Amino acid sequence: MCGITARVGHDEAIDELLSGLRNLEYRGYDSAGVATVTPDGLTVIKRSGEIDELCTAVEKTPVHGSSGIGHTRWSTHGPPTDANAHPHTDCLGQVAVVHNGIIDNYSDLRDELSTHEFTSDTDTEVVPHLIEEQLSAGYEPEEAFRRTIDRISGSYAIAAVFDGSDAVYGTRSGSPLVLGVDDDTYYLASDVPAFLEYTDDVVYLQDGDVVVMDPDGYEISDTDGEAVERAVETVDWDPSDAGKGGYAHYMLKEIYEQPTALRQSIRGRSNSMTGRAEFEELPEETFDGVESVHLVAMGTSYHAALYAQALLSDRGVTAQAFLSGEYGSNPPPTDERTLVIAVTQSGETADTLSAIRSVQGTGARTLAVTNVVGSTATRECDDTVYIRAGPEIGVAATKSFSSQVATLILLSERLSQDLSGGTPRATGEVLDALSVLPDDVQRVLDASTADTVAAEYHDSDSYFFIGRGVGHPVSMEGSLKFKEITYDHAEGFSAAELKHGPLALVTENTPVFAVFTGRDDTKTLHNVKEIRARDAPVIAVASEGTDRIREYADHVLEIPETHPDVAGVLANVQLQLVSYLAADELARPIDKPRNLAKSVTVE
Ligand code: F6R
Repeated sequence: MCGITARVGHDEAIDELLSGLRNLEYRGYDSAGVATVTPDGLTVIKRSGEIDELCTAVEKTPVHGSSGIGHTRWSTHGPPTDANAHPHTDCLGQVAVVHNGIIDNYSDLRDELSTHEFTSDTDTEVVPHLIEEQLSAGYEPEEAFRRTIDRISGSYAIAAVFDGSDAVYGTRSGSPLVLGVDDDTYYLASDVPAFLEYTDDVVYLQDGDVVVMDPDGYEISDTDGEAVERAVETVDWDPSDAGKGGYAHYMLKEIYEQPTALRQSIRGRSNSMTGRAEFEELPEETFDGVESVHLVAMGTSYHAALYAQALLSDRGVTAQAFLSGEYGSNPPPTDERTLVIAVTQSGETADTLSAIRSVQGTGARTLAVTNVVGSTATRECDDTVYIRAGPEIGVAATKSFSSQVATLILLSERLSQDLSGGTPRATGEVLDALSVLPDDVQRVLDASTADTVAAEYHDSDSYFFIGRGVGHPVSMEGSLKFKEITYDHAEGFSAAELKHGPLALVTENTPVFAVFTGRDDTKTLHNVKEIRARDAPVIAVASEGTDRIREYADHVLEIPETHPDVAGVLANVQLQLVSYLAADELARPIDKPRNLAKSVTVE
């Protein structure tokens, strides 16, 4: 998804603008550009392709100025060309604009601006031309900016610079925009990593806020132009957290960060004295009156939601996971007895935000389970629980899944205690298993033989992943990870489903990964025998010492003995490693798989 960066200060802006763009690469993009304010007018340089192309262009045409904006674009309106790349300017080159999101009424506005010369296919370009109209009518830049924003509808974050002014103007509505505050330099970006190497003091702008920043400070006002105070928060992300830290890819780094991420996720949340899961963010009465749970999510987060559904059902809580992209357009009945949990790493996934919005006014209580502090989901839900995984840069979600599941295990325990009809299930055992999960994950990382599996099977025809109970969402997650970074066909389904169709595809060239969690293993072993009878290689993911499984598997990826409710996280780590190593064998661009973006902010 697109990324915005902007910066004002007393010295040259270009290096920090370019490093901001590089730090936002993880969001996915297909063109990039910058604009700075110079005494001779605005300088705009933009290129399709990688940021390196832009840097080469910048080297050829030195870019001066202490204020500027930058953008990485992920095409929505029009192909990834130099002309469609941001920033976009008006006919007279008085203003340059970058934009994330979609302007719903751009087509009508473009008709209205028919006397203007448009140079791109984008929806964004209506913005500088509208501003031009306002400047021509005699308005100063800030008023021209505000009047333009009043005319557009949709979801957007916008930043603009004007010829003759060293200020940067920004606003947001439904798309993230964060202000970074340093001594005499100020930043604006779609996400904190853009400027984290310069400052960790941030202001999360809210929908409708307009920020004007110049080298002497910044001011934030609401849609009516009234000044508003927004708290400056200090993020505790180390700048090295936002870099690769010596690993070949962000994804590998994030896989290896899982023990630390999990410790953060569970820290202080499990009271061994009372056997109760506690969340300081949640008031004691949060779940009063709740009788059933809906979980809404997409992709990897949906698999974590399915995992939680299995746990909650097992504990006697009525729970159902939904793809939020389906839920929002056709929401099932909800009322004050329903708790709707949005599971979303970014907190910005448009489908999931829509699902949450679809229950507003029904009385349902909403809870965001997310990684990103101050994200839209946290502002739109009644309550928030953070998964505390730290920044996740690789497009393929890894540590966020483990931290989501760990957080949802705790939440399931809490819900089973608080909701009528719930039955806490061996609470002590599960919480004990969770407390050693970070060490167990470390053991998996230290001893995994996933490299042998990846080397042996990475040129197969197709890959299947099967499991039961929580092993089912883990098999779906295993196949999603495999397909998104290797580009090979992979499918995950319940082991129970095998005989009802998928078995027809099983051949000697379709390895099958079978996830054993310690529950219903005998039935899954039957399926493995059926697979072996079709000569397909079987890679079992199972706990140490499971000899009867070993007998029927070509390879066993071992996980430490633990509670079945927790075993799925360990099995998933083995599958993450297989996907990563297979993609590496195939020399895929692991951190930026084709056609994918980290944060999907359009439906
Ligand atoms: C897969 C992946 C995506 C996301 C999905 C939801 O590796 O990352 O499937 O899980 O786009 O994103 P969030 O969790 O940010 O709502």
